[in-house]
Amino acid sequence: MRTLCRSIEKVAPTNATVLILGDSGTGKELIARALHRLSGRAHQPFVAINCAAIPDTLLESELFGYEKGAFTGAAKRTPGKLELASGGTIFLDEMGEMPASLQAKLLRVLQERTVERIGGRTPIPLDLRIISATNRDLDALIAAGTFREDLYYRISEVTLRVPPLRDRKGDVLLLTQFLLQQAAERYGRPTRGLAPDAIRAVQSHRWPGNVRELENRIKGAVIMADGAVVTASDLGLQDLGEDPDYLNLRVARQRAESQALRQALAVARGNLSRAADLLGVTRPTLYDLLEKHQIDAAQFAQRSAGPAPSPESTG
Ligand SMILES: Nc1ncnc2c1ncn2[C@@H]1O[C@H](COP(=O)(O)OP(=O)(O)O)[C@@H](O)[C@H]1O
Ligand SMILES: [Mg+2]
Repeated sequence: MRTLCRSIEKVAPTNATVLILGDSGTGKELIARALHRLSGRAHQPFVAINCAAIPDTLLESELFGYEKGAFTGAAKRTPGKLELASGGTIFLDEMGEMPASLQAKLLRVLQERTVERIGGRTPIPLDLRIISATNRDLDALIAAGTFREDLYYRISEVTLRVPPLRDRKGDVLLLTQFLLQQAAERYGRPTRGLAPDAIRAVQSHRWPGNVRELENRIKGAVIMADGAVVTASDLGLQDLGEDPDYLNLRVARQRAESQALRQALAVARGNLSRAADLLGVTRPTLYDLLEKHQIDAAQFAQRSAGPAPSPESTG
């Protein structure tokens, strides 16, 4: 997630088209909005359109707009979302669902940087940043012939992948605390802490609905909880969760080892000699362990609030 955040900061100020891939509820739209907010277009419109939520015929007029009399019911000239977004950013959500006829039209818009309203003859120049998102496997759609490869290359100058929440172990508790605070404020409830069984439950749950599921469970818990703290059952989760490995000793040892490494690095602020001392291992052993657990010691140097450690001391 840190790498992803750095990528967002790097790509935001450019005009590059961005394709955001990730499961439903992982935060793709939030990222699209962040890209817009961190760009030079921040004060221009951000226009989102969900390609899956609108029937094909309507999607065309929503995107491209129409002239008066272009079709039955076209009572007055209406600009499309592409035109409305000009100067700013258009966010094409659920891009994998876009019908073939519109893919061809959209490709033309991208190539020519102009749009023609339905029934119109004058191309209207567009200055657009295009961000797309999908939870579909676009490679598979391309192989199956339902998504145009040429369009794919146009919309994916930069691709950002958002991992599912179950792979963001360190994130779950931070997000839980943040969302709990947010929900408490929204619903005017006293800020409630998490009971130990709730902490265990959120860490072991698989989160098929990702951050959206977490957010919904927390809202429900904040509204319904009777006690001062939110319990696993308030969240509708089982204590110990559904993680079959929870009690497996080999897995438990691995996790404990990984956690100890992270804690030592945090305390040592990324200083490897000090971390090795704290862990009671030699520096070469520490290197092996960091590689085994794929931990980047440099990340812990940044986390400290104090003065940055000198380059030698971080090893
Ligand atoms: N990192 C995050 N911090 C806070 N809230 C988040 C985060 N990621 C996602 N959310 C929230 O979770 C919900 C789902 O996010 P969204 O961007 O709509 O996901 P997606 O577009 O991938 O389905 C939204 O309410 C969003 O605000
Ligand atoms: Mg979405």
